Amino acid sequence: MKTVGVIGLGNMGRGMALSLKRAGFDVSGFDASQDATQKLGEEGVRPCASVAEIAGSVDVLILSLPTSAIVEQVVFGDGGVASSAKSGLILIDTTTADPNSTRKVAAALKECGVGFIDGPVSGGPKGAATATMTMVLGGADEDIAAVQPILSAISAKQVHVGPAGAGHVTKLINNLLTGVHLLVTSEAVRAAEAVGVDKNRLIEALSGGSGKNSATLTNYPTWILNDKFDSGFTMKLMRKDMRLALELLQSQNVSAPVAKEAGRLWAKSEETIGDAEDFNRIVQFIDKQ
Ligand SMILES: NC(=O)c1ccc[n+]([C@@H]2O[C@H](COP(=O)([O-])OP(=O)(O)OC[C@H]3O[C@@H](n4cnc5c(N)ncnc54)[C@H](O)[C@@H]3O)[C@@H](O)[C@H]2O)c1
Repeated sequence: MKTVGVIGLGNMGRGMALSLKRAGFDVSGFDASQDATQKLGEEGVRPCASVAEIAGSVDVLILSLPTSAIVEQVVFGDGGVASSAKSGLILIDTTTADPNSTRKVAAALKECGVGFIDGPVSGGPKGAATATMTMVLGGADEDIAAVQPILSAISAKQVHVGPAGAGHVTKLINNLLTGVHLLVTSEAVRAAEAVGVDKNRLIEALSGGSGKNSATLTNYPTWILNDKFDSGFTMKLMRKDMRLALELLQSQNVSAPVAKEAGRLWAKSEETIGDAEDFNRIVQFIDKQ
């Protein structure tokens, strides 16, 4: 499988396309933004003019799209993957998506002879650009084995967690934890500062102690303490993930009061923190009830 396509050439898809190119694959790209498609064209990624063109010409197609609604449009819409796929195509959906939609898409594509893997990613734009992401995979063993060289070209670690949809379930739970860590760590920082402890020293200390988490280890040192807020992951996308994670817990009647409160705070942050802002801005959110 030497030809790979990427649909959605934003913060994540762009890095994946370039990592595949570096690994020696013949890479095609398509984005709804002509500008994004064109720019990658200048870096050796063959620009396609439509979903039909890319789906009809590659062995493996990677999606990196904002939402499940857009994934469904790309798969089921006019000239979509379902109607234009090259015979034997395997689709890898790296979108952080709704598992219910994922299962529907996987089943429909199976009917059309298209293999489906959900392979959401962690590691941000930097991880995509340097092929150091972690992927959690849902799908059939044989499909995953068939695309292993492609998975290895874009990620450093892959964990196969179950059938189609299981990857997206796992990713939502991962991001729920990230969302909770950010909120509770921001409370810890405010509390420590209130009693005169320097926040840089606090984060350094916590990161060596049992209170460490993704916010103390990564978010604060990389994007918050230096006031950069340039992770390449937006509030809009993280609010989507928190909403989907909460819907998942609710659909299973899981008792999760902490997660529920975190979900409420992330949703409420929409009133004061814009969609395009960096997701780390949540640490500045104060809930004025
Ligand atoms: N940015 C991160 O750090 C990060 C990390 C892990 C996972 N994710 C997930 O990866 C996915 C992509 O995230 P991103 O940050 O790259 O988003 P992004 O907004 O930067 O990129 C999405 C791209 O999809 C394109 N697009 C939208 N509709 C389209 C359509 N119908 N056809 C073709 N292209 C279309 C957009 O033009 C855009 O270029 C999301 O589901 C996100 O939740 C992001």
